[in-house]
Amino acid sequence: MRPKVICHMVSSIDGRLLVDRWSSPAAGVDSGALLGHYDQVAARLNADGWIVGRKTMEAYAKGKARTPGFAGNGVRDTHIAERKGHAVAVAIDPHGRLHYGQDNAGGDHIVAVLGEQVSDDYLAELREDGVSYLFAGADGRDLHRAMDTLGKAFDIRTILLEGGGVTNGAFLKAGLIDEISLLVYPGIDGVAGVPSIFEYVGHVDERPAAGRSLRHIGTETLEGGMVWLRYTVEVVAESGA
Ligand SMILES: NC(=O)c1ccc[n+]([C@@H]2O[C@H](COP(=O)([O-])OP(=O)(O)OC[C@H]3O[C@@H](n4cnc5c(N)ncnc54)[C@H](OP(=O)(O)O)[C@@H]3O)[C@@H](O)[C@H]2O)c1
Repeated sequence: MRPKVICHMVSSIDGRLLVDRWSSPAAGVDSGALLGHYDQVAARLNADGWIVGRKTMEAYAKGKARTPGFAGNGVRDTHIAERKGHAVAVAIDPHGRLHYGQDNAGGDHIVAVLGEQVSDDYLAELREDGVSYLFAGADGRDLHRAMDTLGKAFDIRTILLEGGGVTNGAFLKAGLIDEISLLVYPGIDGVAGVPSIFEYVGHVDERPAAGRSLRHIGTETLEGGMVWLRYTVEVVAESGA
Protein backbone atom coordinates (compact mmCIF):
# COMPACT_ATOMS: atom_id res chain seq x y z
CA MET A 1 0.00 0.00 0.00
CA ARG A 2 1.27 3.49 -0.80
CA PRO A 3 1.94 5.93 2.05
CA LYS A 4 -0.40 8.73 3.03
CA VAL A 5 1.09 11.89 1.44
CA ILE A 6 0.81 15.16 3.37
CA CYS A 7 2.02 18.19 1.39
CA HIS A 8 3.70 20.32 4.08
CA MET A 9 4.78 23.79 2.94
CA VAL A 10 5.41 27.33 4.11
CA SER A 11 4.45 30.22 1.83
CA SER A 12 4.08 34.00 1.88
CA ILE A 13 0.49 35.29 2.05
CA ASP A 14 0.54 35.40 -1.77
CA GLY A 15 1.39 31.69 -1.92
CA ARG A 16 4.98 32.18 -3.09
CA LEU A 17 7.73 29.73 -2.39
CA LEU A 18 11.05 31.58 -2.13
CA VAL A 19 11.60 32.38 1.54
CA ASP A 20 14.46 34.87 1.00
CA ARG A 21 12.17 37.18 -0.99
CA TRP A 22 9.45 37.69 1.63
CA SER A 23 8.93 41.02 3.39
CA SER A 24 10.24 41.34 6.96
CA PRO A 25 7.98 40.47 9.87
CA ALA A 26 6.46 43.15 12.06
CA ALA A 27 8.65 44.87 14.68
CA GLY A 28 9.43 42.53 17.55
CA VAL A 29 8.65 39.36 15.56
CA ASP A 30 11.66 37.19 14.79
CA SER A 31 11.77 35.68 11.28
CA GLY A 32 13.92 32.77 12.52
CA ALA A 33 11.32 31.89 15.14
CA LEU A 34 8.58 32.11 12.50
CA LEU A 35 10.44 29.76 10.15
CA GLY A 36 11.18 27.44 13.07
CA HIS A 37 7.48 26.57 13.12
CA TYR A 38 8.00 24.58 9.91
CA ASP A 39 9.99 21.76 11.55
CA GLN A 40 7.97 21.93 14.78
CA VAL A 41 4.71 21.42 12.89
CA ALA A 42 6.31 18.71 10.73
CA ALA A 43 7.17 16.80 13.91
CA ARG A 44 3.53 16.97 15.00
CA LEU A 45 2.48 15.24 11.77
CA ASN A 46 4.22 11.98 12.83
CA ALA A 47 5.54 11.07 9.38
CA ASP A 48 8.16 8.45 8.51
CA GLY A 49 10.10 10.93 6.37
CA TRP A 50 9.89 13.54 3.63
CA ILE A 51 10.00 13.88 -0.15
CA VAL A 52 11.50 16.70 -2.21
CA GLY A 53 12.27 17.36 -5.86
CA ARG A 54 15.71 17.20 -7.44
CA LYS A 55 16.31 20.96 -7.15
CA THR A 56 15.34 21.19 -3.48
CA MET A 57 17.54 18.17 -2.62
CA GLU A 58 20.56 19.94 -4.20
CA ALA A 59 21.05 21.73 -0.86
CA TYR A 60 22.04 18.36 0.67
CA ALA A 61 23.77 16.65 -2.27
CA LYS A 62 27.33 17.94 -2.19
CA GLY A 63 29.18 14.85 -3.49
CA LYS A 64 31.06 14.42 -6.79
CA ALA A 65 30.26 12.11 -9.74
CA ARG A 66 32.36 8.93 -9.55
CA THR A 67 32.59 5.59 -11.36
CA PRO A 68 33.20 3.03 -8.60
CA GLY A 69 33.03 0.08 -11.08
CA PHE A 70 31.06 -3.17 -10.84
CA ALA A 71 28.09 -2.66 -8.57
CA GLY A 72 27.20 -6.32 -8.10
CA ASN A 73 24.33 -8.45 -9.31
CA GLY A 74 20.82 -7.06 -8.93
CA VAL A 75 22.03 -3.48 -9.30
CA ARG A 76 18.86 -2.59 -11.22
CA ASP A 77 16.52 -3.84 -8.49
CA THR A 78 15.12 -1.67 -5.69
CA HIS A 79 18.05 -1.17 -3.31
CA ILE A 80 17.46 -0.92 0.43
CA ALA A 81 20.64 0.27 2.11
CA GLU A 82 21.29 0.41 5.86
CA ARG A 83 18.63 2.81 7.20
CA LYS A 84 19.76 2.59 10.84
CA GLY A 85 16.24 3.28 12.08
CA HIS A 86 16.20 6.79 10.62
CA ALA A 87 13.37 8.58 8.84
CA VAL A 88 13.69 8.71 5.04
CA ALA A 89 14.64 11.69 2.86
CA VAL A 90 13.26 10.88 -0.60
CA ALA A 91 14.57 12.72 -3.71
CA ILE A 92 12.57 12.63 -6.96
CA ASP A 93 15.51 12.65 -9.38
CA PRO A 94 14.40 11.11 -12.71
CA HIS A 95 17.76 11.52 -14.48
CA GLY A 96 20.05 10.67 -11.57
CA ARG A 97 21.63 14.14 -11.45
CA LEU A 98 22.29 14.27 -7.72
CA HIS A 99 25.62 13.15 -6.23
CA TYR A 100 25.30 12.71 -2.48
CA GLY A 101 28.68 11.62 -1.08
CA GLN A 102 26.82 10.54 2.07
CA ASP A 103 23.85 8.39 3.06
CA ASN A 104 21.78 11.06 4.80
CA ALA A 105 20.18 14.48 4.39
CA GLY A 106 20.04 16.28 7.71
CA GLY A 107 20.34 12.90 9.47
CA ASP A 108 17.53 11.20 7.48
CA HIS A 109 18.32 8.23 5.23
CA ILE A 110 18.36 9.16 1.52
CA VAL A 111 16.15 7.24 -0.92
CA ALA A 112 16.58 8.25 -4.59
CA VAL A 113 13.59 7.85 -6.95
CA LEU A 114 15.04 7.29 -10.43
CA GLY A 115 14.18 6.63 -14.05
CA GLU A 116 15.21 3.20 -15.31
CA GLN A 117 17.47 4.86 -17.88
CA VAL A 118 20.14 5.81 -15.29
CA SER A 119 23.48 4.06 -15.76
CA ASP A 120 24.91 1.15 -13.76
CA ASP A 121 27.82 3.44 -12.86
CA TYR A 122 25.43 5.90 -11.23
CA LEU A 123 23.72 3.11 -9.27
CA ALA A 124 27.14 1.84 -8.14
CA GLU A 125 27.91 5.35 -6.85
CA LEU A 126 24.67 5.45 -4.85
CA ARG A 127 25.42 2.01 -3.36
CA GLU A 128 28.91 3.14 -2.38
CA ASP A 129 27.40 6.23 -0.70
CA GLY A 130 24.99 4.01 1.26
CA VAL A 131 21.97 5.57 -0.47
CA SER A 132 18.82 3.52 -1.16
CA TYR A 133 17.04 3.73 -4.51
CA LEU A 134 13.89 2.68 -6.32
CA PHE A 135 12.55 3.17 -9.84
CA ALA A 136 9.62 5.20 -11.14
CA GLY A 137 9.26 3.69 -14.62
CA ALA A 138 11.41 4.25 -17.69
CA ASP A 139 11.43 8.06 -17.44
CA GLY A 140 11.24 8.36 -13.66
CA ARG A 141 7.81 10.07 -13.77
CA ASP A 142 5.63 7.15 -12.59
CA LEU A 143 4.96 8.53 -9.12
CA HIS A 144 2.24 5.94 -8.35
CA ARG A 145 4.76 3.16 -8.84
CA ALA A 146 7.36 5.02 -6.77
CA MET A 147 4.91 5.52 -3.88
CA ASP A 148 3.80 1.86 -4.03
CA THR A 149 7.42 0.74 -3.72
CA LEU A 150 8.06 3.20 -0.90
CA GLY A 151 5.13 1.71 0.99
CA LYS A 152 5.82 -1.95 0.29
CA ALA A 153 9.63 -2.18 0.26
CA PHE A 154 10.45 0.56 2.80
CA ASP A 155 7.34 0.22 5.00
CA ILE A 156 6.60 3.96 4.85
CA ARG A 157 3.08 4.73 6.10
CA THR A 158 2.99 8.55 6.15
CA ILE A 159 5.32 10.91 4.30
CA LEU A 160 5.60 14.69 4.02
CA LEU A 161 5.80 16.15 0.50
CA GLU A 162 7.96 19.25 0.98
CA GLY A 163 8.31 20.81 -2.48
CA GLY A 164 9.42 22.52 -4.52
CA GLY A 165 6.43 23.67 -6.46
CA VAL A 166 7.26 21.59 -9.56
CA THR A 167 7.34 18.36 -7.56
CA ASN A 168 4.20 19.30 -5.62
CA GLY A 169 2.50 19.99 -8.96
CA ALA A 170 3.47 16.56 -10.30
CA PHE A 171 2.02 14.86 -7.19
CA LEU A 172 -1.13 16.98 -7.43
CA LYS A 173 -1.69 16.03 -11.07
CA ALA A 174 -1.10 12.36 -10.19
CA GLY A 175 -3.82 12.55 -7.49
CA LEU A 176 -1.31 11.50 -4.86
CA ILE A 177 -1.81 14.23 -2.24
CA ASP A 178 -4.05 13.16 0.65
CA GLU A 179 -3.64 16.15 2.95
CA ILE A 180 -2.26 19.70 2.82
CA SER A 181 -0.50 21.36 5.75
CA LEU A 182 0.26 24.97 4.82
CA LEU A 183 2.00 27.50 7.03
CA VAL A 184 1.22 31.03 5.88
CA TYR A 185 4.09 33.34 6.84
CA PRO A 186 3.16 36.96 7.59
CA GLY A 187 5.06 38.32 4.59
CA ILE A 188 4.60 39.18 0.93
CA ASP A 189 6.61 38.38 -2.20
CA GLY A 190 4.54 40.43 -4.63
CA VAL A 191 6.24 39.81 -7.97
CA ALA A 192 4.33 38.18 -10.85
CA GLY A 193 5.78 34.87 -11.99
CA VAL A 194 7.70 33.95 -8.84
CA PRO A 195 7.05 30.22 -8.16
CA SER A 196 4.12 29.28 -5.97
CA ILE A 197 3.68 26.14 -3.88
CA PHE A 198 2.11 24.27 -6.85
CA GLU A 199 3.88 24.64 -10.20
CA TYR A 200 2.64 21.76 -12.37
CA VAL A 201 4.58 21.77 -15.64
CA GLY A 202 1.94 21.27 -18.32
CA HIS A 203 -0.37 22.90 -20.82
CA VAL A 204 -2.34 26.01 -19.81
CA ASP A 205 -5.61 24.13 -20.53
CA GLU A 206 -4.83 21.43 -17.97
CA ARG A 207 -6.26 21.56 -14.46
CA PRO A 208 -4.03 19.47 -12.23
CA ALA A 209 -6.41 19.78 -9.27
CA ALA A 210 -9.50 18.76 -11.28
CA GLY A 211 -11.49 16.02 -9.57
CA ARG A 212 -10.27 16.99 -6.12
CA SER A 213 -11.75 19.21 -3.40
CA LEU A 214 -10.31 20.49 -0.14
CA ARG A 215 -12.02 19.87 3.18
CA HIS A 216 -10.86 22.24 5.90
CA ILE A 217 -9.81 20.30 9.01
CA GLY A 218 -8.06 22.91 11.10
CA THR A 219 -6.58 26.36 11.54
CA GLU A 220 -4.11 27.37 14.23
CA THR A 221 -2.43 30.73 14.73
CA LEU A 222 1.14 30.15 15.88
CA GLU A 223 3.47 32.50 17.74
CA GLY A 224 4.48 35.55 15.69
CA GLY A 225 1.41 35.38 13.44
CA MET A 226 2.16 32.29 11.34
CA VAL A 227 -1.15 30.65 10.36
CA TRP A 228 -1.29 26.85 10.03
CA LEU A 229 -3.99 25.69 7.62
CA ARG A 230 -4.92 22.02 7.22
CA TYR A 231 -7.06 20.37 4.57
CA THR A 232 -7.80 16.83 3.50
CA VAL A 233 -7.90 16.32 -0.25
CA GLU A 234 -11.07 14.51 -1.30
CA VAL A 235 -11.98 12.91 -4.58
CA VAL A 236 -15.00 14.74 -6.03
CA ALA A 237 -17.96 12.35 -6.05
CA GLU A 238 -19.32 11.46 -9.50
CA SER A 239 -22.68 13.14 -10.17
CA GLY A 240 -25.44 10.52 -10.20
CA ALA A 241 -27.69 12.64 -12.47
N1 LIG B 1 8.69 27.41 0.82
C1 LIG B 1 8.91 26.12 0.93
O1 LIG B 1 8.29 25.47 1.81
C2 LIG B 1 9.87 25.43 0.00
C3 LIG B 1 9.94 24.04 0.06
C4 LIG B 1 10.78 23.38 -0.85
C5 LIG B 1 11.53 24.12 -1.78
N2 LIG B 1 11.48 25.45 -1.79
C6 LIG B 1 12.27 26.21 -2.80
O2 LIG B 1 11.80 25.83 -4.10
C7 LIG B 1 12.84 25.94 -5.06
C8 LIG B 1 12.89 24.67 -5.93
O3 LIG B 1 11.60 24.36 -6.39
P1 LIG B 1 11.33 23.79 -7.87
O4 LIG B 1 9.87 23.62 -7.96
O5 LIG B 1 12.03 24.67 -8.86
O6 LIG B 1 12.11 22.40 -7.90
P2 LIG B 1 11.86 20.95 -7.27
O7 LIG B 1 10.42 20.60 -7.24
O8 LIG B 1 12.66 20.83 -6.03
O9 LIG B 1 12.60 20.06 -8.37
C9 LIG B 1 12.16 20.11 -9.71
C10 LIG B 1 12.82 18.97 -10.46
O10 LIG B 1 12.21 17.74 -10.12
C11 LIG B 1 12.35 16.85 -11.23
N3 LIG B 1 11.06 16.23 -11.50
C12 LIG B 1 10.66 15.04 -10.98
N4 LIG B 1 9.48 14.70 -11.43
C13 LIG B 1 9.04 15.69 -12.23
C14 LIG B 1 7.85 15.89 -12.99
N5 LIG B 1 6.85 15.00 -13.02
N6 LIG B 1 7.72 17.05 -13.70
C15 LIG B 1 8.70 17.95 -13.67
N7 LIG B 1 9.87 17.79 -12.99
C16 LIG B 1 10.04 16.67 -12.27
C17 LIG B 1 12.94 17.64 -12.38
O11 LIG B 1 14.31 17.32 -12.35
P3 LIG B 1 15.20 17.31 -13.68
O12 LIG B 1 15.35 18.75 -14.06
O13 LIG B 1 16.46 16.67 -13.26
O14 LIG B 1 14.40 16.52 -14.69
C18 LIG B 1 12.69 19.09 -11.97
O15 LIG B 1 13.62 19.98 -12.46
C19 LIG B 1 14.11 26.14 -4.26
O16 LIG B 1 14.46 27.51 -4.36
C20 LIG B 1 13.72 25.80 -2.83
O17 LIG B 1 14.46 26.50 -1.88
C21 LIG B 1 10.64 26.14 -0.93
